Order: sequence, then structure tokens, then C-alpha cells
Amino acid sequence: MLIRTQNQGYDHAISSEITSASLYHRRRDWLRLMAAGAAGGAMASWASREALAQTTRPGKLAPLPGGKSVVTGAVTMEKPTPYEDASTYNNYYEFGTDKADPARNAHRLKTTPWTVSVEGLVKKPMQFALEDLLKLAPMEERIYRMRCVEGWSMVIPWVGYSLSALVKKVEPLGSAKYVEFVTLADRKTMPFVGSRILDWPYTEGLRMDEALHPLTLLSFGMYGEVLPNQNGAPVRLVVPWKYGFKNAKSLVTIRFTEQQPGTAWNKAAANEYGFYSNVNPDVPHPRWSQATERRIGEDGLFAKKRKTLIFNGYEAQVGQLYAGMDLKKFY
Ligand code: MTE
Repeated sequence: MLIRTQNQGYDHAISSEITSASLYHRRRDWLRLMAAGAAGGAMASWASREALAQTTRPGKLAPLPGGKSVVTGAVTMEKPTPYEDASTYNNYYEFGTDKADPARNAHRLKTTPWTVSVEGLVKKPMQFALEDLLKLAPMEERIYRMRCVEGWSMVIPWVGYSLSALVKKVEPLGSAKYVEFVTLADRKTMPFVGSRILDWPYTEGLRMDEALHPLTLLSFGMYGEVLPNQNGAPVRLVVPWKYGFKNAKSLVTIRFTEQQPGTAWNKAAANEYGFYSNVNPDVPHPRWSQATERRIGEDGLFAKKRKTLIFNGYEAQVGQLYAGMDLKKFY
């Protein structure tokens, strides 16, 4: 995010420059919704049009199917980003700073065995083997709009369950006000750990009510398969109303704290990346506007940019969390 390119901009290469334009559209969720009569009459013509579309999964990794999401707002009508784009245009600084580096280097990440420690101010601290974490709650498919602080966006069908299911298991103490997310930092497999770009391990944090919000997802898969390493295997956070850097990848520790935890990008540049980092078109990054965005895989360099939505379009679901807060101050 801090990397300048020659033309004075920041690293905004569009996906079609680095990948073939293969098409991948996921329709199953909508077809299921329509079959269940849950999506309402207004959707009927759209759905019958889309019913003709092919439902496939990429077939690259092990399947991880999720049932229909029961969380309001967890499914957008927008077209999912092609898998090839979502899995090759990434930020995962442990594996390099170029958007193509994670896909190039993350095969070195060893995801089995994997344990997540849930600790801190909780009644029942627990160490979860990945296999147990996978069984903790029913998997849902959540098609979320995602917005990176750099000005691009994607639509991704994640598979996982609300983080709140895990939080409830460990019974946080009354003194727990925040949740810190710590990710793997393994010098042997991650070539950029030890570099001075960030303070490793990469960490993130949420306020307790944000962590408990049903949209906050603990994700194990995308596009009906387990996560590719470059997208944060084997387990990552997804908070769709915040900028993408909140979505810590390859989690190893989830810690409940009384004080607001430090976060990787806030430590690197506090005036640019705040703790909250809610998507907000009215609060520019100090070096660029956040009013518009480019959808990866759809909007070419010369396409008119899309307007960015407050809370990335999830205001109805999450606006209440920030009632009365000055969002310019708590950026
Ligand atoms: N998690 C770790 N561990 N390391 C990182 O560098 N980058 C973040 C976030 N999570 C990052 C991370 C940033 S800047 C973004 S935009 C998203 O991951 C990108 O996630 P995606 O690859 O699924 O699009």
C-alpha cells in the first residue's frame, strides 16, 4: 500500500494485465434462494435470466461447500469477481509486495497441521486444531463486496461462519473490550518476514461489538473450495464493511484484550491507516480520494469509476455500531 510506481500513482495494475480474462460466475446461491422463495418477487426476472448461467467451482483445490447464508446482507446481487483475479491479485506482504507475489510464493506456506489459539480475557481459553475449527459451526456461503484501501474492489463468495460462533465458545470476560488477530510469521517459508515493511507478525484488531457482528466472518474457503494459500489459508478474517487490510490472513492467535490492540498498518503509518478503517467515501486517504473505486476483473483502465459506498454498502447492517461517533476522527 505504500509502494510507489513510476507514474506517481500507487500499485493499481488492473487484473487483465496480469491474468487471462477467464470468466467465472457463481449462481448457485441465488438459485437456491429463489428456489426457497426467499429473495422476493422483485428478483424474479433477474434470477430467471441468471438461471441459465453455468454453476461451477474452479476445481483447483479441495471442495468446501457452504449452505445458504442465514445472515442478512451477506449475499450481494453483484457478479462475483473471476476466481483467477481474486486468487492472483493479492496483498500478502509476507510473500512480497507486488500484487502477483502472493500467488507466486505462497505455495511455500505449510497449512497442516494448523492450530489457532484463542486466549486473553476469556473464561475458557482454547487451542483449536483446524479440523475442530472447521466443525465448530455450519459453513455458509457469503458473497461479500470487498474494498481495498488502494481503490479497487472485488466481489467474493467466501465460505465460513460468523466469528461470533467462536467468540461465544470461549466466553469472553466482561473486561474484554477488543479482539486482536495475530497471523503466522514464519521466516522459513515467508520471504518478506523480517523485512522492514511492517512490524511482524501482521496483526489486526476489532472492537468487541464489531467482532460479534454477524457479518464478521471467519473464512476457510472461497468459490466453494478451501482458501488458496495466497488468500489466507487455512483460516482468515473477513470484515466486509472495512478496508481490506483489516482482513488478517492465516490466523494463529485470537486474543481478547482490554486495551485497543496495535495493528500492522496503523503502526506503519498511523495518519494513513486508522484502527477503525471503515470504508468511507467522505474520508480521503491523505494521499488519494476514497470517493470512487475500480472493480477488478470488470472495470478497465478507461472505464468510469464506481462510487464507493459508505461502510462499503453495509450501512443498514452496521451503521448502528458507530452511532454518534465522529467518523473523520475515528477513521
Ligand atoms: N494478512 C496478512 N497476514 N498479511 C498481509 O499482508 N494484507 C491485507 C489483508 N490481510 C495482508 C493480510 C490487505 S492489504 C488486503 S487488501 C487483504 O488482505 C487482501 O486480501 P485478498 O488477497 O483476499 O484480496
